[in-house]
Amino acid sequence: MLDLARANARAAGAGNAEFLDGQIEAIPLPDRSVDVIISNCVINLSTDRPAVFAESFRVLRPGGRLGITDILAEDHLTPAERLERGAGPAASPGRPPSPSTATSLTRAGFTDITITPAQQAGAGLHSAIIPRRQALTMPSPGADARIEPMTGGHADAVLAIYQAGIDEGNATFETRAPDWAVFTAARLPAHRYVAITHGRVAGWVAASATSGRCVYAGVVEHSVYVHPAARGRGIGYLLLDALIASTEAAGNLDIQSGIFPENIASLALHQAAGFRVVGTRERIGRHHGLWRDVVLIERRSPAV
Ligand SMILES: CC(C)(COP(=O)(O)OP(=O)(O)OC[C@H]1O[C@@H](n2cnc3c(N)ncnc32)[C@H](O)[C@@H]1OP(=O)(O)O)[C@@H](O)C(=O)NCCC(=O)NCCS
Repeated sequence: MLDLARANARAAGAGNAEFLDGQIEAIPLPDRSVDVIISNCVINLSTDRPAVFAESFRVLRPGGRLGITDILAEDHLTPAERLERGAGPAASPGRPPSPSTATSLTRAGFTDITITPAQQAGAGLHSAIIPRRQALTMPSPGADARIEPMTGGHADAVLAIYQAGIDEGNATFETRAPDWAVFTAARLPAHRYVAITHGRVAGWVAASATSGRCVYAGVVEHSVYVHPAARGRGIGYLLLDALIASTEAAGNLDIQSGIFPENIASLALHQAAGFRVVGTRERIGRHHGLWRDVVLIERRSPAV
Protein backbone atom coordinates (compact mmCIF):
# COMPACT_ATOMS: atom_id res chain seq x y z
CA MET A 1 0.00 0.00 0.00
CA LEU A 2 2.86 2.35 0.82
CA ASP A 3 4.56 1.58 -2.50
CA LEU A 4 1.32 2.25 -4.37
CA ALA A 5 0.69 5.49 -2.45
CA ARG A 6 4.22 6.72 -3.15
CA ALA A 7 3.94 5.81 -6.83
CA ASN A 8 0.60 7.62 -7.08
CA ALA A 9 2.06 10.69 -5.39
CA ARG A 10 5.00 10.68 -7.80
CA ALA A 11 2.66 10.27 -10.77
CA ALA A 12 0.56 13.19 -9.54
CA GLY A 13 3.66 15.33 -9.02
CA ALA A 14 2.85 15.67 -5.32
CA GLY A 15 6.39 16.19 -4.04
CA ASN A 16 5.21 17.47 -0.65
CA ALA A 17 3.44 14.24 0.43
CA GLU A 18 5.10 11.80 2.83
CA PHE A 19 3.76 8.37 3.83
CA LEU A 20 4.65 6.85 7.20
CA ASP A 21 4.12 3.30 8.40
CA GLY A 22 2.65 3.16 11.90
CA GLN A 23 -0.17 2.01 14.19
CA ILE A 24 -3.13 4.26 14.96
CA GLU A 25 -2.74 3.37 18.64
CA ALA A 26 0.90 4.60 18.56
CA ILE A 27 1.18 7.31 15.92
CA PRO A 28 4.82 7.82 14.86
CA LEU A 29 4.66 11.62 15.12
CA PRO A 30 5.67 14.09 17.84
CA ASP A 31 3.21 15.81 20.23
CA ARG A 32 1.25 18.77 18.87
CA SER A 33 2.63 18.46 15.35
CA VAL A 34 -0.54 17.90 13.31
CA ASP A 35 -3.22 20.32 12.05
CA VAL A 36 -5.83 17.86 10.77
CA ILE A 37 -6.44 14.13 11.14
CA ILE A 38 -8.85 12.35 8.81
CA SER A 39 -9.81 8.72 9.09
CA ASN A 40 -12.01 6.67 6.80
CA CYS A 41 -13.48 3.55 8.38
CA VAL A 42 -10.53 2.04 10.20
CA ILE A 43 -11.09 3.05 13.83
CA ASN A 44 -13.86 0.46 14.22
CA LEU A 45 -11.19 -2.19 13.50
CA SER A 46 -9.01 -1.13 16.45
CA THR A 47 -9.25 -3.14 19.66
CA ASP A 48 -8.21 -0.08 21.69
CA ARG A 49 -10.21 2.92 20.52
CA PRO A 50 -9.50 5.06 23.63
CA ALA A 51 -5.79 4.73 22.71
CA VAL A 52 -6.57 5.84 19.14
CA PHE A 53 -8.33 8.98 20.37
CA ALA A 54 -5.68 9.70 23.03
CA GLU A 55 -2.97 9.41 20.37
CA SER A 56 -4.95 11.64 18.00
CA PHE A 57 -5.28 14.25 20.74
CA ARG A 58 -1.58 14.00 21.58
CA VAL A 59 -0.35 14.68 18.06
CA LEU A 60 -2.85 17.45 17.24
CA ARG A 61 -1.85 21.05 17.75
CA PRO A 62 -4.16 23.09 20.01
CA GLY A 63 -7.05 24.00 17.72
CA GLY A 64 -6.32 21.03 15.43
CA ARG A 65 -9.18 18.99 13.97
CA LEU A 66 -10.13 15.35 13.77
CA GLY A 67 -12.61 14.21 11.12
CA ILE A 68 -13.77 10.61 11.05
CA THR A 69 -16.15 8.60 8.93
CA ASP A 70 -16.79 5.19 10.40
CA ILE A 71 -19.32 2.60 11.47
CA LEU A 72 -20.88 3.38 14.83
CA ALA A 73 -22.96 1.05 16.98
CA GLU A 74 -25.82 2.63 18.88
CA ASP A 75 -25.03 2.78 22.60
CA HIS A 76 -27.78 0.33 23.59
CA LEU A 77 -26.35 -2.64 21.64
CA THR A 78 -24.81 -5.34 23.83
CA PRO A 79 -21.32 -6.75 23.02
CA ALA A 80 -23.01 -9.90 21.61
CA GLU A 81 -25.30 -7.84 19.37
CA ARG A 82 -22.34 -5.80 18.16
CA LEU A 83 -20.38 -8.93 17.30
CA GLU A 84 -23.37 -10.44 15.52
CA ARG A 85 -23.59 -7.30 13.38
CA GLY A 86 -19.87 -7.42 12.63
CA ALA A 87 -19.01 -4.27 14.57
CA GLY A 88 -15.36 -5.21 14.93
CA PRO A 89 -13.01 -6.93 17.38
CA ALA A 90 -13.55 -4.39 20.16
CA ALA A 91 -17.03 -5.88 20.50
CA SER A 92 -16.06 -9.44 21.47
CA PRO A 93 -18.32 -11.07 24.05
CA GLY A 94 -16.67 -11.13 27.47
CA ARG A 95 -15.02 -7.76 26.95
CA PRO A 96 -16.44 -4.97 29.08
CA PRO A 97 -18.67 -2.71 27.00
CA SER A 98 -16.58 0.02 25.37
CA PRO A 99 -17.49 3.58 26.23
CA SER A 100 -19.45 5.36 23.51
CA THR A 101 -17.46 7.12 20.82
CA ALA A 102 -18.52 10.53 22.11
CA THR A 103 -17.43 9.59 25.65
CA SER A 104 -14.09 8.27 24.39
CA LEU A 105 -13.47 11.44 22.40
CA THR A 106 -14.36 13.61 25.41
CA ARG A 107 -12.11 11.59 27.68
CA ALA A 108 -9.24 12.02 25.25
CA GLY A 109 -9.71 15.79 25.62
CA PHE A 110 -11.67 16.63 22.46
CA THR A 111 -14.25 19.39 22.52
CA ASP A 112 -17.02 20.48 20.16
CA ILE A 113 -17.84 16.94 19.09
CA THR A 114 -20.64 16.38 16.61
CA ILE A 115 -21.70 13.00 15.29
CA THR A 116 -23.87 12.90 12.18
CA PRO A 117 -25.42 9.50 11.43
CA ALA A 118 -25.35 8.85 7.70
CA GLN A 119 -26.55 5.57 6.20
CA GLN A 120 -27.97 2.68 8.21
CA ALA A 121 -25.37 -0.12 8.10
CA GLY A 122 -27.42 -2.80 9.88
CA ALA A 123 -29.85 -2.82 12.82
CA GLY A 124 -28.43 -0.38 15.35
CA LEU A 125 -25.38 0.39 13.20
CA HIS A 126 -24.80 3.54 11.22
CA SER A 127 -22.08 4.94 9.13
CA ALA A 128 -21.36 8.27 10.73
CA ILE A 129 -19.37 11.43 10.16
CA ILE A 130 -17.59 13.01 13.11
CA PRO A 131 -16.11 16.37 12.24
CA ARG A 132 -14.42 17.89 15.25
CA ARG A 133 -13.39 21.45 15.67
CA GLN A 134 -11.90 23.23 18.60
CA ALA A 135 -13.00 26.85 18.43
CA LEU A 136 -9.96 29.06 18.49
CA THR A 137 -11.48 32.45 19.06
CA MET A 138 -8.95 33.65 21.60
CA PRO A 139 -5.71 34.91 20.08
CA SER A 140 -2.34 34.11 21.65
CA PRO A 141 -1.90 35.69 25.10
CA GLY A 142 0.88 37.95 23.92
CA ALA A 143 2.51 40.57 26.04
CA ASP A 144 -0.71 41.69 27.71
CA ALA A 145 -1.21 38.34 29.54
CA ARG A 146 -1.36 39.06 33.25
CA ILE A 147 -2.28 37.40 36.52
CA GLU A 148 -4.75 39.11 38.87
CA PRO A 149 -6.25 38.09 42.21
CA MET A 150 -9.64 36.44 41.62
CA THR A 151 -12.63 38.53 42.76
CA GLY A 152 -16.42 38.24 42.62
CA GLY A 153 -16.29 40.25 39.39
CA HIS A 154 -14.69 37.24 37.71
CA ALA A 155 -17.34 34.80 38.99
CA ASP A 156 -19.23 34.16 35.75
CA ALA A 157 -16.12 33.63 33.65
CA VAL A 158 -14.45 31.45 36.29
CA LEU A 159 -17.50 29.20 36.65
CA ALA A 160 -17.96 28.95 32.87
CA ILE A 161 -14.33 27.85 32.43
CA TYR A 162 -14.79 25.40 35.30
CA GLN A 163 -17.91 23.94 33.62
CA ALA A 164 -16.11 23.66 30.26
CA GLY A 165 -13.36 21.62 31.95
CA ILE A 166 -15.93 19.46 33.76
CA ASP A 167 -17.77 18.80 30.49
CA GLU A 168 -14.62 17.41 28.89
CA GLY A 169 -14.80 14.55 31.39
CA ASN A 170 -11.18 14.33 32.58
CA ALA A 171 -10.75 17.22 34.97
CA THR A 172 -12.66 16.22 38.11
CA PHE A 173 -15.24 13.91 39.64
CA GLU A 174 -17.57 16.94 39.83
CA THR A 175 -20.34 16.95 37.26
CA ARG A 176 -21.54 20.54 37.67
CA ALA A 177 -19.76 23.73 38.61
CA PRO A 178 -21.21 25.01 41.90
CA ASP A 179 -22.62 28.49 42.31
CA TRP A 180 -20.25 31.25 43.29
CA ALA A 181 -21.16 31.16 47.02
CA VAL A 182 -20.26 27.46 47.27
CA PHE A 183 -17.17 27.87 45.08
CA THR A 184 -15.82 30.73 47.12
CA ALA A 185 -16.60 29.17 50.53
CA ALA A 186 -14.62 26.02 49.64
CA ARG A 187 -11.43 27.85 48.64
CA LEU A 188 -8.81 29.83 50.51
CA PRO A 189 -9.17 33.55 49.82
CA ALA A 190 -5.40 34.08 49.73
CA HIS A 191 -4.40 31.91 46.78
CA ARG A 192 -6.88 32.49 43.95
CA TYR A 193 -5.86 34.01 40.69
CA VAL A 194 -7.18 34.56 37.21
CA ALA A 195 -5.17 34.93 34.02
CA ILE A 196 -6.38 37.78 31.83
CA THR A 197 -5.60 37.95 28.13
CA HIS A 198 -7.05 40.54 25.79
CA GLY A 199 -9.21 41.81 28.64
CA ARG A 200 -10.87 38.44 29.23
CA VAL A 201 -10.50 35.73 31.85
CA ALA A 202 -8.53 32.91 30.18
CA GLY A 203 -8.08 30.66 33.21
CA TRP A 204 -8.01 30.38 36.97
CA VAL A 205 -6.23 28.68 39.82
CA ALA A 206 -7.38 28.28 43.43
CA ALA A 207 -6.45 26.29 46.52
CA SER A 208 -8.28 24.73 49.47
CA ALA A 209 -6.95 23.65 52.85
CA THR A 210 -6.14 19.94 52.77
CA SER A 211 -7.27 19.44 56.36
CA GLY A 212 -8.14 21.45 59.46
CA ARG A 213 -5.54 19.50 61.44
CA CYS A 214 -2.60 21.54 62.62
CA VAL A 215 -0.03 19.19 61.11
CA TYR A 216 -1.44 19.91 57.64
CA ALA A 217 -1.33 23.69 58.06
CA GLY A 218 1.35 24.01 55.37
CA VAL A 219 -0.44 21.81 52.82
CA VAL A 220 -2.98 22.97 50.25
CA GLU A 221 -4.86 21.28 47.40
CA HIS A 222 -5.38 23.15 44.18
CA SER A 223 -7.29 23.24 40.90
CA VAL A 224 -6.27 24.93 37.66
CA TYR A 225 -8.53 25.44 34.65
CA VAL A 226 -7.83 27.16 31.36
CA HIS A 227 -10.44 28.19 28.78
CA PRO A 228 -10.42 25.54 26.00
CA ALA A 229 -9.64 28.20 23.41
CA ALA A 230 -6.69 29.56 25.39
CA ARG A 231 -4.81 26.35 26.00
CA GLY A 232 -1.32 25.45 24.92
CA ARG A 233 0.00 28.98 25.30
CA GLY A 234 1.57 28.84 28.72
CA ILE A 235 -1.43 30.15 30.68
CA GLY A 236 -1.72 27.03 32.87
CA TYR A 237 1.96 27.38 33.62
CA LEU A 238 1.59 31.10 34.48
CA LEU A 239 -1.27 30.30 36.86
CA LEU A 240 0.64 27.52 38.64
CA ASP A 241 3.61 29.84 38.95
CA ALA A 242 1.41 32.44 40.66
CA LEU A 243 -0.02 29.81 42.99
CA ILE A 244 3.42 28.48 43.93
CA ALA A 245 4.76 31.98 44.65
CA SER A 246 1.70 32.91 46.68
CA THR A 247 1.58 29.71 48.77
CA GLU A 248 5.30 29.73 49.42
CA ALA A 249 5.16 33.38 50.53
CA ALA A 250 2.44 32.38 53.02
CA GLY A 251 4.47 29.44 54.36
CA ASN A 252 2.39 26.74 52.62
CA LEU A 253 5.17 24.48 51.50
CA ASP A 254 3.30 21.58 49.94
CA ILE A 255 0.72 21.74 47.11
CA GLN A 256 -1.21 18.58 46.30
CA SER A 257 -3.79 17.46 43.78
CA GLY A 258 -5.30 14.39 42.18
CA ILE A 259 -5.41 13.94 38.40
CA PHE A 260 -7.18 11.32 36.31
CA PRO A 261 -4.46 9.31 34.49
CA GLU A 262 -6.20 10.11 31.19
CA ASN A 263 -5.63 13.84 31.76
CA ILE A 264 -2.33 13.91 29.87
CA ALA A 265 -2.29 17.72 29.59
CA SER A 266 -2.64 18.24 33.34
CA LEU A 267 -0.05 15.57 34.19
CA ALA A 268 2.43 17.14 31.76
CA LEU A 269 1.69 20.67 32.94
CA HIS A 270 2.22 19.75 36.59
CA GLN A 271 5.38 17.84 35.84
CA ALA A 272 6.69 20.89 33.96
CA ALA A 273 5.84 23.01 37.04
CA GLY A 274 7.88 20.80 39.39
CA PHE A 275 5.18 18.47 40.74
CA ARG A 276 6.02 14.80 41.28
CA VAL A 277 3.74 11.78 41.09
CA VAL A 278 3.24 10.27 44.53
CA GLY A 279 1.28 7.24 43.35
CA THR A 280 -2.01 6.10 41.88
CA ARG A 281 -5.16 5.36 43.86
CA GLU A 282 -7.07 2.78 41.90
CA ARG A 283 -10.81 2.79 41.33
CA ILE A 284 -11.22 5.55 43.85
CA GLY A 285 -14.72 6.55 42.80
CA ARG A 286 -17.37 6.23 40.11
CA HIS A 287 -17.64 8.92 37.49
CA HIS A 288 -20.58 8.76 35.10
CA GLY A 289 -20.90 5.09 36.12
CA LEU A 290 -17.22 4.17 35.53
CA TRP A 291 -14.66 3.47 38.27
CA ARG A 292 -11.72 5.80 37.85
CA ASP A 293 -8.15 5.92 39.12
CA VAL A 294 -6.55 9.08 40.45
CA VAL A 295 -2.86 9.95 40.20
CA LEU A 296 -1.75 11.85 43.31
CA ILE A 297 0.76 14.62 42.72
CA GLU A 298 2.55 17.07 44.99
CA ARG A 299 5.05 19.86 44.84
CA ARG A 300 7.16 20.52 47.88
CA SER A 301 8.85 23.85 48.17
CA PRO A 302 12.63 23.61 47.79
CA ALA A 303 12.70 25.31 51.21
CA VAL A 304 11.43 22.10 52.89
C1 LIG B 1 -4.41 21.18 32.19
C2 LIG B 1 -4.57 22.61 31.67
C3 LIG B 1 -4.83 23.52 32.86
C4 LIG B 1 -3.29 23.05 30.94
O1 LIG B 1 -3.38 24.45 30.65
P1 LIG B 1 -2.59 25.11 29.42
O2 LIG B 1 -2.71 26.60 29.57
O3 LIG B 1 -3.07 24.54 28.14
O4 LIG B 1 -1.11 24.63 29.68
P2 LIG B 1 0.21 25.39 29.21
O5 LIG B 1 0.01 25.97 27.85
O6 LIG B 1 0.64 26.33 30.29
O7 LIG B 1 1.23 24.20 29.11
C5 LIG B 1 2.34 24.09 29.96
C6 LIG B 1 2.95 22.72 29.76
O8 LIG B 1 1.97 21.71 30.07
C7 LIG B 1 2.09 20.62 29.16
N1 LIG B 1 0.85 20.48 28.37
C8 LIG B 1 -0.19 21.33 28.32
N2 LIG B 1 -1.15 20.85 27.50
C9 LIG B 1 -0.70 19.68 27.03
C10 LIG B 1 -1.24 18.70 26.15
N3 LIG B 1 -2.46 18.84 25.60
N4 LIG B 1 -0.51 17.58 25.91
C11 LIG B 1 0.71 17.42 26.46
N5 LIG B 1 1.28 18.34 27.29
C12 LIG B 1 0.59 19.44 27.57
C13 LIG B 1 3.30 20.92 28.32
O9 LIG B 1 4.43 20.39 28.98
C14 LIG B 1 3.34 22.41 28.34
O10 LIG B 1 4.62 22.92 28.12
P3 LIG B 1 5.16 23.11 26.60
O11 LIG B 1 4.09 23.88 25.86
O12 LIG B 1 6.41 23.87 26.80
O13 LIG B 1 5.34 21.74 26.06
C15 LIG B 1 -5.73 22.71 30.63
O14 LIG B 1 -5.57 21.68 29.66
C16 LIG B 1 -7.11 22.59 31.23
O15 LIG B 1 -7.68 23.58 31.69
N6 LIG B 1 -7.70 21.37 31.21
C17 LIG B 1 -9.07 21.16 31.73
C18 LIG B 1 -9.13 21.33 33.22
C19 LIG B 1 -8.19 20.40 33.90
O16 LIG B 1 -8.04 19.25 33.52
N7 LIG B 1 -7.57 20.92 34.96
C20 LIG B 1 -6.66 20.15 35.77
C21 LIG B 1 -7.43 19.32 36.73
S1 LIG B 1 -6.32 18.20 37.57
